[in-house]
Amino acid sequence: MTQSELLYSDPMAAATAAAHEIIERTGVAAHDIALVMGSGWVGAVDALGTPAYECNAEELVGFLPPTVEGHSGKVRSYIIESEGKELRALVFLGRTHLYEGKGVEPVVHSVRAAVKAGCKIIILTNACGGINLKYSVGQPVLIRDHISLTAVSPLSGATFVDLTDLYSKRIRAIVKAEDSTLDEGVYAHWRGPTYETPAEILMMRTMGADLVGMSTVPEAIAAHALGAEILGISLVTNAAAGVTGEKLNHEEVIAAGKAAAERMGALLKRVIPKLF
Ligand code: HPA
Repeated sequence: MTQSELLYSDPMAAATAAAHEIIERTGVAAHDIALVMGSGWVGAVDALGTPAYECNAEELVGFLPPTVEGHSGKVRSYIIESEGKELRALVFLGRTHLYEGKGVEPVVHSVRAAVKAGCKIIILTNACGGINLKYSVGQPVLIRDHISLTAVSPLSGATFVDLTDLYSKRIRAIVKAEDSTLDEGVYAHWRGPTYETPAEILMMRTMGADLVGMSTVPEAIAAHALGAEILGISLVTNAAAGVTGEKLNHEEVIAAGKAAAERMGALLKRVIPKLF
């Protein structure tokens, strides 16, 4: 059986196999935390220092080559030393999205592998459109809750997982204590790859969504179902469709991410040791 056949026929076995490879390659028996760096966030990892290990994700079982500009497809292991603690962080530079059309299994494979490699906390970062008029471009917003508009779940079978505290209240409180200017919002998950229409954005605002993006939700559900605590942070890279009348483009999203990367990286570095 090929690696990608295993991913689709037995996704948990593929995640476990990838985790064993990560453990073997890094020499770290159990990582503590994983970070998934989305569009525009890749520069934020510079704040974590020099990685102790790096490889291309596609070298590991079940990972697909990256297809989106701004996503580099590397997996890194970092040592984060602070306040007398030594933590091991697994960092995924980039992710697979539902709009790539390869199903949900590759979308959630990295977080499943991370949890199997020991990670108890998963930080999911993304770029998003701001639906709520109070947000400005370049602003990070903590995800308080989500609305799934894709009708796609990474789980199947009678797995009735509770999502009441999907985006950990405990972790959000710690992050906000570190940076009291941070706002929280509800993230609407849109499959893409088209951006939304102005009418769809109006619908989402009416439903109670503040942010819209094409990632994070399946990964949050898959990792939570395996027992991990989740922090989601969205960077508002543009006003959502129809808010300003401007057209949306991916270059704008990447540029806004690059501009905010330093602040985001510094925040992550300060906050991670406080979570343990
Ligand atoms: N919509 C959906 N996804 C996005 C957006 C948006 O406006 N900006 C960045 N990712």
